Amino acid sequence: METRRSLKGSSAHNVKSGLCLWLILWLVVVKPGGVGACPRLCVCYPTPMTVSCQSQNLTIVPAGVPYDSQRVLWLYANNITWIEAGAFSNLRVLEELDLGDNPLQRLEGGAFRGLEKLQSLHMHRCKLAALPHDLFHKLYSLQFLYLQDNQLHFLQDDLFSDLVNLTHLFLHGNRIRALSENVFRGLVNLDRLLIHDNRIRQVNRRAFRDLGRLTILYLFNNSLAELPGQAMRDAQGIQFLRLNGNPWSCGCEARPLWEWFRKARISSSDLMCTSPSQRRGQDLRFLRELDFALCPLPDPGSLAGSTTTTFSTKTRWWFSKNKPASSSKASYQKSSETVKAFPFSCRQASIPPQNPL
Ligand SMILES: *[C@@H]1O[C@H](CO)[C@@H](O)[C@H](O)[C@H]1NC(C)=O
Ligand SMILES: *[C@@H]1O[C@H](CO)[C@@H](O)[C@H](O)[C@H]1NC(C)=O
Ligand SMILES: *[C@@H]1O[C@H](CO)[C@@H](O)[C@H](O)[C@H]1NC(C)=O
Ligand SMILES: *[C@@H]1O[C@H](CO)[C@@H](O)[C@H](O)[C@H]1NC(C)=O
Repeated sequence: METRRSLKGSSAHNVKSGLCLWLILWLVVVKPGGVGACPRLCVCYPTPMTVSCQSQNLTIVPAGVPYDSQRVLWLYANNITWIEAGAFSNLRVLEELDLGDNPLQRLEGGAFRGLEKLQSLHMHRCKLAALPHDLFHKLYSLQFLYLQDNQLHFLQDDLFSDLVNLTHLFLHGNRIRALSENVFRGLVNLDRLLIHDNRIRQVNRRAFRDLGRLTILYLFNNSLAELPGQAMRDAQGIQFLRLNGNPWSCGCEARPLWEWFRKARISSSDLMCTSPSQRRGQDLRFLRELDFALCPLPDPGSLAGSTTTTFSTKTRWWFSKNKPASSSKASYQKSSETVKAFPFSCRQASIPPQNPL
């Protein structure tokens, strides 16, 4: 008994002095080198390698983040205003960067240069009014991009074009006014697009051209009176759609969207008409064929990508005129050239043949 206890005691003593020795070694060797140390005001965790520096009133990105194997960096709720190009370029294996709740007034174009393993980037509530055009270049691994609750009023063409793996794009609570033809180009894996609570008046008819994998689209609480039927046909995987809180016009201009709703089997919010006055309060989805009886025929060329060819014939239903006019044939060829130029959007073949009844 006695011997065993003293043996135990001495081995505990050995462990203790061993730890002391390691601590001294660590202090002497590691600390002054910087690498492996945790920056001041931050807390570091081992698995996955995380540096957590939130809510510290930091005004710059802290120096000395141990970069070798850093996977997560939390800098949210600080006072960071300026991020220079290459600020994180040592963090080659970083997967998550949270910059939410910082007043990022000076974000340089190359701020995220080198973050080719980054999967989640949080920049919500950062008072962002504009984004440098090359901000997201080469972020090929990015899957989640949070830009909600900023002051963005404009998104340049091809801003997201390198984000081939992006699945979630949150842009709600900004001041965006229009979605142009190439704004979402390249987002071939996008699953959720949240752009509600903006000021969108106009959506280009090909704005969703690359979004064949989209399943959730929130466009509620914007200023949309019209939405092109072609835009919705391009987003052929949609399952959940919210379009409420927009001032829909339900005259002849509503027909392409109404046609799309007749064929699509999706869960959608209501679409209350605000004009013309006799249709106010009706739901656009539930208008009747009769409501469009006096409208000019829809343009068959609109399926193929032409812009405006108006038909003046009085034939009631356009399936009786399925043969495209020569002008729209030319535009069909033009649009298949465009398709060839962008290999991701070869959706032309999968548009179902028109068969309205
Ligand atoms: C950050 O600044 C605010 C306002 O100046 C202050 O109330 C708060 O205590 C500061 N927080 C830290 C962690 O220093
Ligand atoms: C944030 O930084 C600015 C100067 O860059 C300073 O005026 C302000 O007081 C800071 N706010 C907090 C909460 O520390
Ligand atoms: C994109 O995601 C897929 C599946 O998650 C993955 O296999 C691929 O490596 C990713 N591509 C890049 C460039 O990270
Ligand atoms: C629509 O947006 C306005 C202004 O941003 C907001 O006050 C309102 O609550 C929003 N409505 C809905 C239904 O989300």
